[in-house]
Amino acid sequence: MKNITVIGSGTMGNGIAHVFAQFGYSVNLVDISDAALQKALATIAKNIDRQVAKGTVTEADKTATLSNIKTFTKLEEGAKNADLVVEAASENVNVKLAIFKQLDEICPPHTILASNTSSISITQIAAVTKRADKVIGMHFMNPVPVMKLIEVIRGYSTSDEVCQLIMETSKKLNKIPTEVNDYPGFVANKILMPMINEAIITLYEGVAGVEEIDTVMKLGMAHPMGPLQLADFIGLDVCLNILRVLHDGFGNPKYAPCPLLVNMVTAGHLGVKSGKGFYDYSSGTKDLILADRFKKQNKSIVA
Ligand code: CAA
Repeated sequence: MKNITVIGSGTMGNGIAHVFAQFGYSVNLVDISDAALQKALATIAKNIDRQVAKGTVTEADKTATLSNIKTFTKLEEGAKNADLVVEAASENVNVKLAIFKQLDEICPPHTILASNTSSISITQIAAVTKRADKVIGMHFMNPVPVMKLIEVIRGYSTSDEVCQLIMETSKKLNKIPTEVNDYPGFVANKILMPMINEAIITLYEGVAGVEEIDTVMKLGMAHPMGPLQLADFIGLDVCLNILRVLHDGFGNPKYAPCPLLVNMVTAGHLGVKSGKGFYDYSSGTKDLILADRFKKQNKSIVA
C-alpha cells in the first residue's frame, strides 16, 4: 500500500486525505470541482495548523503532509495507479454505484476499493464490480484527524486477506479499526441514530427542551456533545437518510424517523452546514445559541 486515491473532497474526504498524507502515503484527492479541491487543501492546512499549535506535529510535518497530496478532477487520472481507493463522495446510492463501476474498469486488478459510506450496503456496492472480494467499508468518523475509530465493514464477499490488509493499514494511520458485518447502519449508526432519533422524539413530545436534553446526555453520560448538537454536526439530512436505511432495511417501526426531523430537513434546517438546526450557527461564534424555533423551553414544541 503506497498510493491512495480519495474520492470526494468534502468534510470526510479531506480528513481522510489528511491522515493518509500525514502518515506518509502518496494521496491523489479527486473531486469533480477544482474549487472544492482548493477549499479542501485550505481546510487540511488549517487543521494541520491546529495540530502544530498543540505541538503534536511540526511545521516540517505540515510541509511534508501537504506535499504528499495531489489533486485531480478526472477520476481516470487520479485512480489509475491506486493501491487503495477510499470513496467519500456524496451519500447517494446511485452516485456510489456509478463511481465503483468506473473504478473497477480504471484501476489495476490488485486495487482494493473501499467506501466511507455511513450506511449504504457494501455488498450492493461490491455487486457492480468484478472484484467483490476486494470491496470493503472503511467508515471514518468526523472529525477524521481527531477520532480514533475506523469501522471496517466486511461485505458478503470481502476476502479475509483484504480485510486483514485494511485492518493493518488503518493501524498505520494511528487509528483503531473494528471489524463489523454488512447489515443496515453497520454498528456505529445502528446504535447512534436511534439515540439521536429518540432525543428528537423527546423534544417533539415536549418532555424537555434542546438544552435540557443535551445537558442530560453531556453531563450525565459524559458524551462530548449532546445528541441534538451532534445531529446538527453530522447534518440532519444525513441523520434522516440513515434512519430511512435502518427503517427500510430492518422493516422495524422502531427506526421510523421523528416527524420533527423530517420537517426540519424539508425546511432546509440541516444543522451546522446550513447555519441552522437545533442551534443557530449564523453568528459564527463557538457559543451554542438556540435556534429561535426552540427557545420555548419545556413547552410542547409541536403545539
Ligand atoms: N482537525 C484536527 N484537529 C481537530 C479538528 C480537526 N478537524 N477538530 C478538532 N480538532 C482538535 C482540536 O485541536 C483539539 O485538540 P486537543 O484535544 O489536542 O486540544 C480537539 O480536537 C478538541 O477540539 P476543540 O477544543 O475545538 O473542541 P471540542 O473539545 O469541543 O471537541 C470534538 C470537538 C472533537 C468534535 C468533540 O466535540 C467530539 O468528540 N464530538 C463528538 C464527535 C463525534 O461523535 N463524531 C462522530 C460523529 S458520527 C460520524 O462521524 C459517522 C457517521 O456515520 C454519522
